[in-house]
Amino acid sequence: MAEVGGETTPDAFEVVDLKDWPLPMDDEPGVPAAGEYEFEHTRAWSRKIAAAEAFVFVTPQYNWGYPAALKNALDHLYREWAGKPALIVTYGGHGGDRCAEQLRQVCEGLHMTPIIAGPGLRLPRTRIEANTGEIDPAGEFAAHRDDLRQSLGALVAARRGT
Ligand SMILES: Cc1cc2nc3c(=O)[nH]c(=O)nc-3n(C[C@H](O)[C@H](O)[C@H](O)COP(=O)(O)O)c2cc1C
Repeated sequence: MAEVGGETTPDAFEVVDLKDWPLPMDDEPGVPAAGEYEFEHTRAWSRKIAAAEAFVFVTPQYNWGYPAALKNALDHLYREWAGKPALIVTYGGHGGDRCAEQLRQVCEGLHMTPIIAGPGLRLPRTRIEANTGEIDPAGEFAAHRDDLRQSLGALVAARRGT
């Protein structure tokens, strides 16, 4: 943890893009809670998540839910998530509040401490239809900087147990 301008912030962030972690759908034969993984891709994913102290989930809303790829990535593991704080940031045409609530419940099922950074980030229709495949945080999220900063403070507090 580091003090930056009087605020406590995590020391380092790493972007983990699920595009770079193409986990096959529900392919492990065993129960993830047992922590015995047959496939190397699951063992690598396990090491990646076990090494993190906290998570910021950034997800679009798809038909009021969150994408299947995110659920699959969560479901591949169990203990690696447990006991860790999670900040949920959603975006979409309507902001993503409904998928935030669904993700919060699943995080609780995984024994995490989830916090919803609200409200979700509304993307303009022109931005969605442009469909460039990339979100530019500086442009799209700039208006939400203060909200996100506040939510990040709550995440840090959850991590410290205060
Ligand atoms: C299959 C699908 C369903 C969507 N459903 C919703 C929705 O229920 N509510 C919403 O606000 N936006 C919805 N959108 C808009 C997406 O949230 C928006 O296009 C977002 O930018 C997609 O992010 P991505 O490009 O990272 O996949 C949907 C988009 C797709 C592709």
